Amino acid sequence: MPKLSVRDLDPKGKRIFMRVDFNVPLNDAGEITDDTRIQASLPTIQYLLDRGGRLILASHLGRPKGKPNPKMSLKPAAVRLAQVLGKPVAFAEDCIGPDAEAAAKALKDGEVLLLENLRFHPEEEKNVPEFAQKLAGLAEVYVDDAFGSAHRAHASTEGITHDLSPCVAGLLMEKELEYLGKAVGHPERPYVAIVGGSKVSDKIELLQNMMKFADCVLIGGAMAYTFLKAQGVEVGLSRVEGDKLDLARDLLQFAERRSIEFRLPVDHIVAAKLDPSAAAEVAPTRSIPVDRLGVDIGPATRADYAAHIAKAKTIVWNGPMGVFEIPQFAEGTVAIAHAVADSSAVSVVGGGDSVSAVKKAGVEAKITHISTGGGASLEFLSGLTLPGVAALTEK
Ligand code: 3PG
Repeated sequence: MPKLSVRDLDPKGKRIFMRVDFNVPLNDAGEITDDTRIQASLPTIQYLLDRGGRLILASHLGRPKGKPNPKMSLKPAAVRLAQVLGKPVAFAEDCIGPDAEAAAKALKDGEVLLLENLRFHPEEEKNVPEFAQKLAGLAEVYVDDAFGSAHRAHASTEGITHDLSPCVAGLLMEKELEYLGKAVGHPERPYVAIVGGSKVSDKIELLQNMMKFADCVLIGGAMAYTFLKAQGVEVGLSRVEGDKLDLARDLLQFAERRSIEFRLPVDHIVAAKLDPSAAAEVAPTRSIPVDRLGVDIGPATRADYAAHIAKAKTIVWNGPMGVFEIPQFAEGTVAIAHAVADSSAVSVVGGGDSVSAVKKAGVEAKITHISTGGGASLEFLSGLTLPGVAALTEK
């Protein structure tokens, strides 16, 4: 990796400002319903504590719009972190100010402090230099393990790097960059990209970038209907982005010119409406009824996609194959999760929905790398520079 990492640091006795992404889901009772992101930062936290670092953790949670909001407090994350670490985690009720400063100064070697939600201050998202300086004033070095927030140029991900040195990647950040980097660097072939989701417009840059590397692209989700419509297929009531038909044609032509196998569904699960009470019916691509909409890939498509996945040496998956929140429309996405898990390829899954599908299918352990970044992994795979990564110190 071209950036310095925690391995290049001597953490002993140093106050370390470590940006983590503890943007975890909470239920109405304020309990954490999925602590994946906390668990994912544990290796870096443990690594630095074991070597005598004095750790000041900072994160955002939700989108509190620059105002304190008890429903988006990071306190539950401090409690959970203490449980999983098996040691006390101090908590500062504000991320800047006298209490945070005193708590940071009081840290001894191997102790950890979590600051309250950075986004309780509007200056965080506006990347105000004076605010970044206050955060930097708490510490001596900067570690960024928040891959999930690396696409944001905020005070704690970008601004602070102008005030602390060195600025190094945590182990999670390093791992994310390694696996996602392989996917857009020198992938082993055949390389299969699975792209789903509802809108072509959300995935244009992703598709354009993936087609620079991929041998085969498998399309699912409602975006498939924009491509099918662009080919003149009658898609019934399926969601089509009318203003993206030309773009869809361009992408199809590009794939043809480059001899990329660009697969669209050959059959579908269709329904009368997008509703949990609607029955699931199978329809081939050329016979989608005028009063039905496509909600998932059909059984023949699942088999076709699984056959391509089985031949792959590298797989990248972003976006669900159907409306998988509704059980009878989830089978296509779950089948793809199993096909990816069964393959011996290096598999990388990014994006909140595809990650949920992998969990729903219970196959997490069989995926090479599940990204903790939703927007960040999408932007990275789209070939965009992530400000939080660009700001780290070069090796
Ligand atoms: C995420 O959940 O993708 C990250 O934590 C970033 O959150 P944001 O989209 O609110 O910046």
